[in-house]
Amino acid sequence: MKTIKTAFFDAKPYDREAFDAVKRPFGVELKYFSGHLSADTVHVAAGTEAICIFVNDVVTREVADALHAQGVRLIALRCAGYNNVDLKAVYQRIHVVRVPAYSPYAVAEHAAALMLALNRKTHKAYFRTRDGNFSINGLLGFDLNGKTAGVVGTGKIGRVMTGILRGFGMRVLAFDPFPDAAFAQAGGCVYTDLPTLYREADVITLHCPLTPDNRRMINAESIAQMKKGVTIINTGRGKLIDTRALIHGLKSGKVGAAGLDVYEEETDYFFEDFSSTVIDDDVLARLLTFPNVLITSHQAFFTREAMANIAQTTLGNIQTYFTQDQLPNEICYRCSDDACQRKITGKCF
Ligand code: NAI
Repeated sequence: MKTIKTAFFDAKPYDREAFDAVKRPFGVELKYFSGHLSADTVHVAAGTEAICIFVNDVVTREVADALHAQGVRLIALRCAGYNNVDLKAVYQRIHVVRVPAYSPYAVAEHAAALMLALNRKTHKAYFRTRDGNFSINGLLGFDLNGKTAGVVGTGKIGRVMTGILRGFGMRVLAFDPFPDAAFAQAGGCVYTDLPTLYREADVITLHCPLTPDNRRMINAESIAQMKKGVTIINTGRGKLIDTRALIHGLKSGKVGAAGLDVYEEETDYFFEDFSSTVIDDDVLARLLTFPNVLITSHQAFFTREAMANIAQTTLGNIQTYFTQDQLPNEICYRCSDDACQRKITGKCF
């Protein structure tokens, strides 16, 4: 069987482990590179037919031109989102495939972990007891049972999160432009509009994609509508929140806590070790000073099961593209819509 040479950018040890464990049957030869894909590094993909990239590898027009000139025919994203690829620049030259879903449980469970830690201040208690401080002053939380959660986006992850929140005995209000009445009935959530959700929720958790319509949906105006002391959890995308408005809300006490797995300007920092460096992003640095803010570095997806699914699906996408007349999990260039059935044939034009 012919092997498909693939340049693998931004390779971390855990990526190599997950992909090496399952790659044998796929006929894909992976050339690992630790650097990000950029105009400066694209040349390392010379001689390969496909590249495999992650959220912070950016395909600009310049990069797309270079990839095309080098003979690369496929960009395999090993993630769900594709806002880092200039789809117009690759159109009719390079196909783009992705992993639409790898584990909604991983992400929802992480969102729940952030909510629980912030409420019961586990992140603070951990350091106290390790330091011989067994005082519980300042660690007061509240019962989730009987409180109201607001779930924004009831897709794969939002639905799992709804089940978890219901398990805590919470009332769940949900907002989604495409409400699913059957899910609401079976899952026990109540669909409502955003102003009602903002007004009534004690905990708000974001599980919608980033679109031109909802960029910075959590802003000064929406925060003003929320309950005093509201907890905001974001495992969706950083740009859903106006971070400066969030900081203002935290300073005033309007926002009681924030659990953030994603951040507006995360590209510069997340997934890398800056522990010996000065952080020159003053907004991120300010966020990190709050005792009631818990930031994780886009790790909500990071479970064994999700990594195995990502590796299997990505390698399967590459193999299928080069060996069969199919375009698995391809992004529709025209409408960029997951639900577009025509994306399978690339004929949504
Ligand atoms: P999905 O496509 O299954 O569900 C998204 C839902 O959001 C759909 O029901 C859609 O109708 C709804 N929606 C669209 N626009 C909306 C809006 N303006 N307001 C409210 N709802 C809206 O996606 P899935 O798998 O549940 O993922 C959700 C998001 O989670 C992804 O788009 C991604 O941004 C994020 N994510 C984060 C990860 C992490 O590691 N932190 C990992 C995977 C996904």
